[in-house]
Formats: sequence, C-alpha cells, structure tokens
Amino acid sequence: MVNSELSGWYALCAVDDLVATRVLAREVFAHRLAVFQDELGHVAVLDDRCPHGGLPLALGRVDNGLLVCAGHGWRFDAQGRCRVVPSSCSAEPLPACTPVRRYPVATHAGYHWVWIGKGTPFSLPLTFELPELGRAGIRVLQLRYRVRCEYQDAIDNLVDITHLPFVHVFPHMRDIDRRLLISLVEIETDLDQVVLRAGTPSQGSADAIAERRIEITFAAPTTVRLDFPRPAAGAASAMVACFVPQADDTTIVESTIVFPAADDSTAFTVARLDASADDPFSTLGRILDEDLVILVAQGRERRLSTAPDLVVAGDAMVAACRQHAKARSAGRIPAARTKRFLCRCGTEVPNWPVAE
Ligand code: FES
Ligand SMILES: [Fe+2]
Repeated sequence: MVNSELSGWYALCAVDDLVATRVLAREVFAHRLAVFQDELGHVAVLDDRCPHGGLPLALGRVDNGLLVCAGHGWRFDAQGRCRVVPSSCSAEPLPACTPVRRYPVATHAGYHWVWIGKGTPFSLPLTFELPELGRAGIRVLQLRYRVRCEYQDAIDNLVDITHLPFVHVFPHMRDIDRRLLISLVEIETDLDQVVLRAGTPSQGSADAIAERRIEITFAAPTTVRLDFPRPAAGAASAMVACFVPQADDTTIVESTIVFPAADDSTAFTVARLDASADDPFSTLGRILDEDLVILVAQGRERRLSTAPDLVVAGDAMVAACRQHAKARSAGRIPAARTKRFLCRCGTEVPNWPVAE
C-alpha cells in the first residue's frame, strides 16, 4: 500500500470539523498526523508523535494556539518547535530536540488539505469550489465515510460510469442508459485535471441530452467531482469526493453533495433520500456495499486499467486518471489533449452543449 503513495494534496477534514481547542488525528498512507489551529486560526499539521515520550500528539489539546501533549504537557507551536516544558524551571533551557515534522497545508473548497510526498507542492487545483453552497433552495449533504478497499480502486469505481446499470440494483441506478459507452463523448486532459463529458444521445433531442449530461472531473491524486448540469431545474447538482488513503487497504472519503431541493431528476435521488432519512448514509451506504462486492471479487490482479488490450472506450477515463496522477506525482506536466470517442456505428451527439 505504501508503495503506491503518490505525491499530492490530500483532504484532511472539512473546515467546520476543526474547532479551536481540539486536535484531530488523521492518517494519509502511513503518515499519522495531528491537526490543529494556531493562535491566528491557521491550520497546522504535525507528525502525530511527541518527541518526549512518543505519545500521539492528537491525544492532547490546544491552548493559546499551542498543542499541549497529553503525556507531560510539553507545548508545541505550529512549526513543531517545543515552546514550554511545564515540569522544568523557567531558567532551564528548553530541550534541544529536533522540531516535530510539519507538513504543508492549504484550505480550499471547504476542506483543509495536506501535501504528502516529495518535491515542491504543486498548486492545489481550483476545481472543487461549489458555488451553490449556501444558496437558497440548495440542499447540502456532507459525509465522511470509510470504504474497505484501496484508494485507487475506489477512485476507478467512481469515474467508471459504465458499471452503474450493471452493478447496482437500486432502481434509479438501473434506469441509467446501458449505452453510456456510446455516448462517451470526450475526455480532456490539462495540467490540473482530467474531465470526462458524457451524455445519452439515444434520448433524441439536444434538450434531452442536456438534461442527461454528466461531467466527471479528476484532479490528481485523489479528488473527483461529479457534475449533473440540469438546465430545466435551474441549478446544477454536484458532488465532490476526496479520497484519503489509509495505511492499509482502507480509504476514507470526504464528500460534499449539493443539489436543488426541487430537482426530481435521477442524479441526486440518492442524496435527497439520505438527506431526509434518519440515517443520512442509508441509501449511499447500500450503493457503496454493492460496489465493494465487485471490487473485492475483482481482486488486485484484474483492475480495469492494467490490461491494455482489454481497455475499451468506456474505460478511457479510468486509464486517463491513473496516468494523470502518476505524471503529477512524478513532477511531470501532463500533456494537454482532448480525446473524442464516437460510436463506431457513426452515432454522433447533435448540438452537444459545450461547457462554458
Ligand atoms: S510524552 Fe509528550 S510530553 Fe511526555
Ligand atoms: Fe458504483
């Protein structure tokens, strides 16, 4: 698992999850992290290990912007330097220990992010703002959940749209046109992201296509955004999912879903059901369970993108995302290109609504 570590930005927590006096414990790959806010409200991320007695720093608390270790009360600042040893007389010099390792952090789109890996952090993609947040008539569902599979499989699963009507028995999923493959229209790669735009030309008129569009955006190494533009509903629905790899085959997903309360289209039925249920995770949890059965059964050797001779157009997004993540992690600049897929029978999508 640790061998598959890719350099990049990883979501740590929703901004609202970090409160002034609390230290959050987080894990990204094998990195155990303690997250807190300093006296100016800036986020700090340190290795979760006290240099004094090895205790996890996340067991401590925050006082006046310093992280106080739960063991013997040593206090650390946002740079990881020890500033106070309460058991020592004030005339005694502070121990000359190496500062606790700190990590680069950023705040964007309602989340705090940490840079894990080698090299200079690249700029955080600005893809994931959800301008609909806070607007009247817009519902928001924010979920943090754990899936028992490797993070790259979980990402593949979300960007692999052709599995939907086959793996899922949930009625609204079954309704999805099985010919999504035909309508896989284009995949555009640039420095920051890979975007898939797809629709269902079998629906006939251009208006109908516009109502059945989906856009999937991937930003390396682990963030996916789904957009369901719905002109008729007057507002778009969207989901941002940040996948956070854990030390073993476990992935945490931090997700935000926004959708118009009045939108009765298929796309966010799941979110709407969950938002109105006692358990906000009931429907989505069932759908994830269906995915997990398939992921486990596939096993590590039979990933979609590892058998190039079997890759069809419908797998192109999975392959493009993996390539993008590897290139970014290695410090290479992914080549900008657009690849269009049209059905071999010649079906074209009339008046494809180009994203503004
Ligand atoms: S273990 Fe942290 S202060 Fe002793
Ligand atoms: Fe699925």
